[in-house]
Amino acid sequence: MSESEAPPIAATSHPDVPRHVAIIMDGNGRWAAARGLPRGEGHRRGVEALRRTVRAAGELGIRYLTIFSFSAENWLRPKAEVQDLLGLLRRFIRHDLAELHSSNVRVRIIGTRDGLATDIRLLLEEAEQLTRDNDGLDLIVAFNYGARQEIARAARRIAEKAARGELSPEDVTVEEFSRHLDSPDLVDPDLIIRTSGEQRLSNFLLWQAAYSELVFLPVYWPDFDRAMLEQALEEYRRRERRFGGLVARTGS
Ligand code: IPE
Ligand code: IPE
Ligand code: MG
Repeated sequence: MSESEAPPIAATSHPDVPRHVAIIMDGNGRWAAARGLPRGEGHRRGVEALRRTVRAAGELGIRYLTIFSFSAENWLRPKAEVQDLLGLLRRFIRHDLAELHSSNVRVRIIGTRDGLATDIRLLLEEAEQLTRDNDGLDLIVAFNYGARQEIARAARRIAEKAARGELSPEDVTVEEFSRHLDSPDLVDPDLIIRTSGEQRLSNFLLWQAAYSELVFLPVYWPDFDRAMLEQALEEYRRRERRFGGLVARTGS
């Protein structure tokens, strides 16, 4: 790589609070199974944990919060569970949108809307439109999202531009590629948290996670609360971010 082509880094290097936190909200099913409850009950309690987390994130000074709510691969689950999850998304937007808006939260959705039911597409659109001018916490909902699919979509958009003669192969740099992802203006996540004890990314933000700090917590998502978020932030503060260099950089 040439000197002029430094890799993009998260806009924050090491402030006390990460600017962008992304969460893989995992373990709803096991939370329910441990209590002899149906998996759907775990998902319902998971929505309560999400409400707590959005509030806490704003209070703790996090600027961007991305949550993995439904993956492109979650369609593989039994039809009834998929319906349950879609129903919860509908209810979350219908019941919580007004409150999110009055709390100055800006909602954005990443993932593809192709193939989604029309009413869900309209709800996602409404959430983005209503809150587009808010400048408090940015809540990015990864819904019907897969990172490989996002990267493939970006490659397709670039190929289309190239075919139209608007781009040439040498224009395709890391920065140019990033501009074709679902949320081009978003800084990379400083911290990615996954609950449930699993230690994998499951096709979440693969491009953006290049230099993210990863924190895996041994709790199921419905039990997640402000104290656990603070614990993850504490762990983040102990990490030294180097971005391939020798010392942690300061400033952006
Ligand atoms: C996370 O909990 C919610 C979604 C993936 C939609 P899970 O449903 O994956 O719960 P576990 O991992 O099976 O316990
Ligand atoms: C990742 O969890 C997706 C979400 C949290 C929405 P999964 O439960 O789908 O991931 P795997 O299958 O355990 O890797
Ligand atoms: Mg899971």
